[in-house]
Amino acid sequence: MTPRDVVVLVSGYGTNLQALIRASHAHLIKSRIKCVISNNPDAFALFRAQKAGITTAVVPSKNIPRAQFQSQLMDAVEAQNPDLIVLAGFMVILSAGFVSHFKNRIINIHPSLLPAFPGLNAQNQAIEYGAKITGCTVHFVDEGCDTGPIILQKSIAVEDGDTTETLTKRLLSVEHQALVEAVRLIEEDKVILQGRKTLLRVSA
Ligand code: GRF
Repeated sequence: MTPRDVVVLVSGYGTNLQALIRASHAHLIKSRIKCVISNNPDAFALFRAQKAGITTAVVPSKNIPRAQFQSQLMDAVEAQNPDLIVLAGFMVILSAGFVSHFKNRIINIHPSLLPAFPGLNAQNQAIEYGAKITGCTVHFVDEGCDTGPIILQKSIAVEDGDTTETLTKRLLSVEHQALVEAVRLIEEDKVILQGRKTLLRVSA
């Protein structure tokens, strides 16, 4: 078992971050959330981190050239020397340079069963498409948008009459479980990358 120093990148409300904080307090994961970094100074996630006594930093992405932002973000993350970087509602596409610098150390949670419905508004995409089943995916981040090797997925039914709000709410509760499970599998060295696939050593 190798406990990891984790940096969590956030942009918004931070319920996935909260799930990690809760799991850490309950000793369901051994990893330490060393720092939470947001591109959005108003993210509620920052408040959640501060309340839990976690160091926070803001690297604003607004009104700044993309390359400059990505380089500042890289410096802020690198300063923490993380073993693992978790994108938990981080609404920025990372540059190829950033991804290759932290190769195989970045994971993301996405609210659909990838490769279906990548990108923004995945819940609404699923409803509009008429999907009967959707879910969430935790995956390693590569240079593409939501294209990296899948670590795990959890599915739920799309109910008749679901709105973006009702589906988002049900999805979030499985996202929280999936993200905690993925971090636990990684810290237990149970996720083996083989090309674009992962093998999970789920037995003891
Ligand atoms: C989640 O649906 C996550 O899958 C997506 O952004 C949302 C963030 O929610 N990438 P929260 O900020 O963790 O509450």
